[in-house]
Amino acid sequence: MARILITSALPYINGIKHLGNLAGSMLPADVYARFQRMRGHEVLYICATDEHGTPAELAAAAAGQDVRTYCDEQHAIQKEIGERFALSWDYFGRTSSPENAGLTQHFAEVLEGRDLIAEIVEKQIYSKADKRFLPDRYVEGTCPNCGYEKARGDQCDNCGKLLEPTELIEPYSTISGSRDLEVRDTRHLQLKQSKMEPRLRQWVDGATSWPPLARSIAYKWLDEGLRDRTITRDLSWGVKVMRDGAVREGFEDKVFYVWFDAPIGYIAATAEWAKATGQDWERWWRTDKGADDVTYVQFMGKDNVAFHTVSFPATILGSEEPWKLVDRLKAFNWLNWYGGKFSTSSKRGVFMDSALELLPSDYWRWYLTSNAPEGSDTQFTWESFQGVINSDLANVLGNFVNRITKYCAAKFDGEVPDVGVPGEAEAWMAAELAERLQALSAHYEAMEFRKAAAETRALWAAGNEYLTKAEPWVKYKTDVDAAAVGVRAGLNLAAVFAIIAQPVIPDAAKAVLDALGVPEGNRAWPDWQDKTLLDALPRGLAITPPNLLFAKIEDASVDEWRERFGGE
Ligand code: MF3
Ligand code: ZN
Repeated sequence: MARILITSALPYINGIKHLGNLAGSMLPADVYARFQRMRGHEVLYICATDEHGTPAELAAAAAGQDVRTYCDEQHAIQKEIGERFALSWDYFGRTSSPENAGLTQHFAEVLEGRDLIAEIVEKQIYSKADKRFLPDRYVEGTCPNCGYEKARGDQCDNCGKLLEPTELIEPYSTISGSRDLEVRDTRHLQLKQSKMEPRLRQWVDGATSWPPLARSIAYKWLDEGLRDRTITRDLSWGVKVMRDGAVREGFEDKVFYVWFDAPIGYIAATAEWAKATGQDWERWWRTDKGADDVTYVQFMGKDNVAFHTVSFPATILGSEEPWKLVDRLKAFNWLNWYGGKFSTSSKRGVFMDSALELLPSDYWRWYLTSNAPEGSDTQFTWESFQGVINSDLANVLGNFVNRITKYCAAKFDGEVPDVGVPGEAEAWMAAELAERLQALSAHYEAMEFRKAAAETRALWAAGNEYLTKAEPWVKYKTDVDAAAVGVRAGLNLAAVFAIIAQPVIPDAAKAVLDALGVPEGNRAWPDWQDKTLLDALPRGLAITPPNLLFAKIEDASVDEWRERFGGE
């Protein structure tokens, strides 16, 4: 049994996430966690809300709430929606926790001790109208790189370039709109990343199992030359900068930069989990306390890769303390909305809460996994969603389970038949199962989610093909025993199909397994054995056809949703 630590990029606190956020980190992390638990491994899946930084302050201001109240509320909302999406976090923490403040301050102190953090005096934009310094998103202006007129102080949304506020051309305050800005000196802490480049490069060189997307992004950053980064900001909401147990002099109105404390939140949320459950978090994170046998897997969108392959490792490696580093990293491209972007700020696309008003979570989980933005960006369209759900879930899986369980109830008293001799059709199906189950496991191990979903579907489709070959309803007229073999195999297949569907569509899978009377203890990942096709279920077991598993999506619904949410 292996120990697997799984984290998905921490969702920003500023509002309910859209389907693109879900598809590119939390959902695949959950699917992978469920798969590995089914394999019998000890899995810890940790997530949290990322609560600091200007986005949180700005969203709270827009909601007319103080930041803490806003974050308390939004955290509870995101947690509840995540649970309704069947995200099986072991813990959903918060970067505003005392644990995260303590660990962030700890790392800063250790790094400063190793001469990797220095106090510097920086030129910063000060707004006389607002009587404060304006960090990143509190100032906008024209991008020096591409000329886009609404570039933010931290990054240009048009060309993606990371910026310093002072680089903006014709800057203005986003608080008051004032252009009466001046550059003033102020103290900050700087992380000397440039000093660490050789060390980081050596570490990335050794990370040969990362997928190409992650490696190329990491090298791009390293090759561009690592810039020393200011890790404090002029904000009041965040982790305080301390020295000798008190707020550091000159840092009274400053906190750590959100990207410095957020990834430390992975560790801190594990500590929160440990506190809540009486467990030991260090055995997951400290290689001197048992974490050397942990495999740590991270899930994230491509915009997050540099922070996870360079910035966070710089914190960890720089400390020279025995912390666990990421072993495997899965990065996703974008899920787009009809060729454009999902957008939180302009409310474009479907968000997690409204998705659940339309359909149960399994429908979304299946679509977003089978169309995961893995190799390239992919598009969400209502038309493709309808097509995938109706064909894969309603026609292929739903029909199979429905047909075989109803037939068993009608002709075999709702019991798994005990008689009959397997023939050619069973031999064909057994070979399919043996080969495809192995391929499916391999896709999950490789974190190839589209392939895993396609293989799952191929297994379900093979089941339908088997029934066509075995034809129990035809055989029944002349040879009841021959029909019985087909029904027995069909019921066993329904169980296997539901078992392997659990990582992606846990609720529907449970409904099938409950209807088939498969005990909780027998729902682990199936290793192919000869009995899988004909004797996974005990003979004579009483089964009941489940209620309708998946309703087809009607054209009328698609028209209505297109109207309501936009689309082409
Ligand atoms: N909140 C960030 C985003 O949504 C992700 C933070 S990941 C962490 O892009 F590691 F920093 F926590
Ligand atoms: Zn730009």
